[in-house]
Amino acid sequence: MTEAIEHDDLWWRQAVTYQVYIRSFADGDGDGTGDLAGLRSRLGYLRDLGVDALWINPWYESPLNDGGYDVANYRAIDRRYGDLAGAEALISDAHDLGLKVLADLVPNHTSSEHAWFREAISAAPGDASRDRYYFRSGRGPDGTEPPNNWQSVFGGPAWTRIDDGDWYLHLFDVSQPDLNWDHPEVRADFLDIFRFWFDRGIDGFRVDVAHGLSKDPSLPDLAAGVPAFGIEQDGSHPYWDRDEVHEIIREWRSVADSYAGKVMVAEAWVSPERLPMYLKSDQYHQSFDFDFLTAPWTAAARRPLIERAIQLIDSNAAMPTWVLSNHDVIRHATRFALAPENQPTGINASVVDDDLDQHVGLNRARAAAMLMLALPGSVYLYQGEELGLREVTDLPPEVLDDPIWERTGHKIKGRDGCRVPIPWTRSGPAFGFGEAAPWLPQPSDFADFSVEAQTGVAGSTLELYRSALALRRAHLSAGSTFAWIDMGDDVIAFERGGITNVTNFGDEPVELPNGTILLTSGPSDGHTVGTDVTAWIQTPS
Ligand code: GLC
Repeated sequence: MTEAIEHDDLWWRQAVTYQVYIRSFADGDGDGTGDLAGLRSRLGYLRDLGVDALWINPWYESPLNDGGYDVANYRAIDRRYGDLAGAEALISDAHDLGLKVLADLVPNHTSSEHAWFREAISAAPGDASRDRYYFRSGRGPDGTEPPNNWQSVFGGPAWTRIDDGDWYLHLFDVSQPDLNWDHPEVRADFLDIFRFWFDRGIDGFRVDVAHGLSKDPSLPDLAAGVPAFGIEQDGSHPYWDRDEVHEIIREWRSVADSYAGKVMVAEAWVSPERLPMYLKSDQYHQSFDFDFLTAPWTAAARRPLIERAIQLIDSNAAMPTWVLSNHDVIRHATRFALAPENQPTGINASVVDDDLDQHVGLNRARAAAMLMLALPGSVYLYQGEELGLREVTDLPPEVLDDPIWERTGHKIKGRDGCRVPIPWTRSGPAFGFGEAAPWLPQPSDFADFSVEAQTGVAGSTLELYRSALALRRAHLSAGSTFAWIDMGDDVIAFERGGITNVTNFGDEPVELPNGTILLTSGPSDGHTVGTDVTAWIQTPS
């Protein structure tokens, strides 16, 4: 009995979690924006796909200036998505289908529409209500210069001046004021927010900007040479990855541990040396391996990342958390369509259409998915990658919604290209996404990528994912040992759970080992696989 409970509590260690960008998944009420009703109606699709859990991007009340990462009320669902009763019904339906549900917590900043910030700006300078954020006077004779030289991640200064002369800090958009995590009310309220959602059945949280939160209290200028978004290896950056953040995480973890089977996954863009600190047993359960996401499509870049992860498992330090795409980066089918040396990384990246070979990109994306699904640890899939969706690189400027576009003075388009609503059907309004024109326009070739166009079609990307997820569930389970197989510099090959994974990054075909071929991401003559193909072979026992 005890064993069964313990095992279930550790469900996340090998889980495949599907990221639902709710705004773009399915529109149930015909207003052009995805919602809870749409998601509820598609839960069967996710169960049949074969995933274990969903992570839903922020669904809280929000002006949606940053796609909901600007939360006005952490205890309410935005009316465009539904209501609290709808969220509870969704959680319950998902559980009935055996799917766990993770929500997205945004603790570094609130929306400027949050009651605390409204209170702060309607108060006078020096009022205690301003202490929940970072309000400061400016520099220079009239205070007309910002308090320090910090820059917003989305472009421009990280400080904005309000009418009474005070400045407030926002490391992201002007509508996302940073919270002061040294304030006891901030600390206490978030513990309560965790409980609020755990009590409603949420199985865990993805935590936004988990390496943020704590700031050097003296708010010093960023020294020359210290990158604004960079990753320092000694915790000395004034606002990223500071040691004080771990104390906060420990408080959250003790709340999570007061329930059974809850999980917290960190969005922490930190150096590999410091990542294990976030994964200690009293902190996060998981942290995305963003090095795997940002690595180019070469065996040389990816092998050491897998080696590092295996070492962490062997030393009992952490289980890996693999990911290839999310709502902040260019879809990997498009990144991999470029030559490895040109493959962009990070959230402020752009692609140049002319250089793209989408056919190559899709082949690599399929091979990458199988490679990832063969690895030990957990996997996060981003909605639409199972359809082989590409980045929509040619959205017209007038539809762009990401604050990056405005804040960079129209230099960087931002992240809308990976957030275009999902095509469900070949034809009909919004390719089955919903009745109304979707909040971002879909390109006409989305018809061919739709769920309808791929269902039951042998070799389609959707069927490849379905087969790979079913095989993973059957063979690549917890505890299976991992053994490297040397097949040359351009091949990543290993054996796990009676399956040999062979991923060919090179120009020449590679000979497959003996055994039954269970699945390949591309063509095979039964003995070899060519460039950019992964094969899974059942090893003869
Ligand atoms: C995270 C989110 C991103 C958001 C930012 C600010 O990086 O993933 O979408 O814009 O935090 O909250």
